Amino acid sequence: MNVAHVTDDKSISLKATEKRFGSSKNGVQALTPTTIDIAAGGMTILLGPSGCGKTTMLRLIAGLVAPTSGIIEIGGVNLWANGRRNSEALSHLGMVFQDANLFPWLTIEQNIALPLKLRGVKKSDRLAKAQDLCKLVGIAGFERRMPNELSGGMRQRASIARALSYDPGILLMDEPFGALDAITRDTMNNELQRIWMETGKTVVLVTHSIGEAVFLADKIVLLSPRPGRVQEVIDVTFPRPRDQSVSLDPEFQRIATYLRDKLDH
Ligand SMILES: Nc1ncnc2c1ncn2[C@@H]1O[C@H](COP(=O)(O)OP(=O)(O)O)[C@@H](O)[C@H]1O
Ligand SMILES: [Mg+2]
Repeated sequence: MNVAHVTDDKSISLKATEKRFGSSKNGVQALTPTTIDIAAGGMTILLGPSGCGKTTMLRLIAGLVAPTSGIIEIGGVNLWANGRRNSEALSHLGMVFQDANLFPWLTIEQNIALPLKLRGVKKSDRLAKAQDLCKLVGIAGFERRMPNELSGGMRQRASIARALSYDPGILLMDEPFGALDAITRDTMNNELQRIWMETGKTVVLVTHSIGEAVFLADKIVLLSPRPGRVQEVIDVTFPRPRDQSVSLDPEFQRIATYLRDKLDH
C-alpha cells in the first residue's frame, strides 16, 4: 500500500546546507552548514550586511545554485536528488529580483503570462490569469502597457505577478524594493503584506534594511559574514495588518536597536 506522505507544498527545509565558491584553499565559504526550517505560510526575512550570504541562501533555496553539501527540501521534496534539480520542487518556487527584469519588448500582461506560455498554457487562459494577477498586485488597467511606461514600483508589482503566475506556494524575493525611493518602498512593503495575507504564500525576503525587516517579518533570520552563517532567529509578533505607524512602537524600536547592535559587530 502506498501511504501518502503528508507534506506542505510551502515548506522549506535546509539540512546542513553549505555553499563554497571556488577551491577549498582560495574559495569563499558563502554559507556555513546551516540547518533551518522556514515556516510554511510565514513571512521570513533574511537580514544581514552586504556579503554575508543572503543572496546565496536565497539562490540555494531557489535551485539557482547547487549546495556544496547538505540537503534542501521544498515541500518535503529533495531539490537536488541525484545531482539534478527536481522539477516538482521547482514548481513550488517563484522568484523576484531587485530589478524587475521584465522583457522590454513584451507588454505587462505578456511578461506576466510568459512563465505560463513556457509551460504550454493556452493563450486565453494565460491572459485571463495575467489579468487576475494585475488586479491582485494593483496594476489593473496597465495590462497592455510596455514596461518602460510604468514606474519602478509598478514594474516590481508586475514582477511579483509574474512570479505568482504558475501559483507557486513559495515566493522568494532578493532585495525586491532596494532600488525604489523610500516612499515607494513603504508602499510596496504595505502591498507585499496585503498580497501575502490574501494569498497565504510562504515569503522569504532578503534585505539589508532593519526597518523593512522589522515591519514585514514574522521571523528575522540574522546572518553574519565571513564565513556566512545564521547568527540568530528573531520572532516579530506585532498584529496584522501592520501599517507604517508600527515603527513608532517602543517594541519596534527595541528590536531595531538590538539588530543594529548585532549588525555593528
Ligand atoms: N558566484 C560567486 N562566485 C564566487 N564568490 C561568490 C559568488 N557569489 C557570491 N560569492 C561570495 O559569497 C559571499 C556572499 O555573497 P552574497 O550571497 O551575494 O551576499 P549578500 O547577498 O548577503 O550580499 C561574498 O563573499 C561573495 O563575494
Ligand atoms: Mg545580495
